[in-house]
Amino acid sequence: MRNFISVHDVTDINELVRLALELKKNPYQHKDLGRNKTLGLIFLNPSLRTRLSTQKAALNLGMNVMVMNMDKEGWALETEDGVVMNHTTVEHIREAAAVMGQYCDIIGIRAFPKLVDRDEDYDEDFFYKFMKHAGVPIISLESATLHPLQSLADVITIEETKTRARPKVVLTWAPHIKALPQAVANSFAEWMNRWDVEFVITHPEGYELAPQFRGNAKIEYDQDIALKGADYIYVKNWSSYEDYGRVLTMDSYWMIDNEKLALTNNAKVMHCLPVRRGIELADEILDGPNSLVIQEAANRVWSAQAVLKKILETNF
Ligand code: CP
Repeated sequence: MRNFISVHDVTDINELVRLALELKKNPYQHKDLGRNKTLGLIFLNPSLRTRLSTQKAALNLGMNVMVMNMDKEGWALETEDGVVMNHTTVEHIREAAAVMGQYCDIIGIRAFPKLVDRDEDYDEDFFYKFMKHAGVPIISLESATLHPLQSLADVITIEETKTRARPKVVLTWAPHIKALPQAVANSFAEWMNRWDVEFVITHPEGYELAPQFRGNAKIEYDQDIALKGADYIYVKNWSSYEDYGRVLTMDSYWMIDNEKLALTNNAKVMHCLPVRRGIELADEILDGPNSLVIQEAANRVWSAQAVLKKILETNF
């Protein structure tokens, strides 16, 4: 594995999940693998889980870690080529990425979409330029369109809790007061489509995910029908892809509570966090026995550690 920016960087999901679960049982078995190697984590947006779990994963492998909140601590970056930099940007991504590549053996980057220009966001311009100029392996800590470390943790969580070989997994849109990226939902859909589950997506009309990520997943616009027989409900808000970046509804009908849970096969409930209680998910779910959200967040460590181990073994 050279980079980890989508499911397409993974040759065998089940093998990666098995590795993650082995690391979970014995976190320090490869504590010398990353000795004298440095992981740089660059954040252009806030984070709790990704920041801490990826640091912990790297430390478990013996790596050194440097973290930079680039939006607050770095120079304002220019990404366009050929521009005269006589406005607000101070440093070009060509130099910034190349310099960071001199200090770090592997770099993780978080860069959310602006949710203004769909083509600009979906081109992943920042990620691909950074990768080109850094010259070292790149891990996505959530890009404009995808969040693969989260999706791998989600797959790990389903694998270790499933009670039948091919569970029914329902990705449901949930209300939110702000326009959020589609990245978590896109990524989850992409991983579910590559894995062996019965996968259904449910959302209000107008919230269809981009075709390249929703793939051939079944779309059901009636949430109650979608939830019937579900073994897992994956709850997430996203803004519209079609009417790009817009919030089309905040209908509380879509919030998962115990009444909705009663429609399912006693489904486990997942959410990547952070979650807005009482808007996206009811307290009774988050505090109840069917919630997997803490286990899911804990698995972020093994997701990151499995990916780092693969990259260390392949590239050094
Ligand atoms: N789920 C997730 O990525 O959490 P953070 O945004 O806190 O890193």
